[in-house]
Amino acid sequence: MKQSEDFIDMKTAIVYYSGTGNTKMMTDVLEKELAKKGEVSVFTAPEFSADMLQSYDVIAFGCPAMGAEELEQDEFEPMFASLENNLGGKRIILFGSYAWADGEWMRTWRKRCEDDGAVVLADITSFEAPDDAVNEALTEAVSKI
Ligand SMILES: Cc1cc2nc3c(=O)[nH]c(=O)nc-3n(C[C@H](O)[C@H](O)[C@H](O)COP(=O)(O)O)c2cc1C
Repeated sequence: MKQSEDFIDMKTAIVYYSGTGNTKMMTDVLEKELAKKGEVSVFTAPEFSADMLQSYDVIAFGCPAMGAEELEQDEFEPMFASLENNLGGKRIILFGSYAWADGEWMRTWRKRCEDDGAVVLADITSFEAPDDAVNEALTEAVSKI
């Protein structure tokens, strides 16, 4: 099979939570773009655990703003917290949707990841459902990895 020029045989994963589908729409765009780089696996938050981190070159984590500028508390936050000792040097992309505030949850989340030693390649936020500009930002983030 002929592969596109930017196919670099990476193993990537997307790990996400989405309550009403907005972050899922971002996931779908990322999945399509990451597939151009190699093999992409998509997991909901409860399906992912720390022992899986080492299997992927890049991992995209997606979670909307919930609570008061927090990650979703029932599924995503416990999973993410369980990874935190193992994120050092890990190349990650963060993404998610919000609707009430100004994206503060993402700034907090990014800092948390950087404090854990992760290499945050991009953070992409979408006000409610992703529009063309968000889809472009997702595409560009993948093109740079
Ligand atoms: C319980 C709950 C808490 C939320 N908290 C915030 C918040 O703190 N800040 C914000 O900007 N949006 C907040 N939102 C809005 C969601 O982030 C927004 O609706 C988003 O598009 C949901 O993404 P999803 O469709 O992937 O679930 C909240 C929504 C719910 C249901």
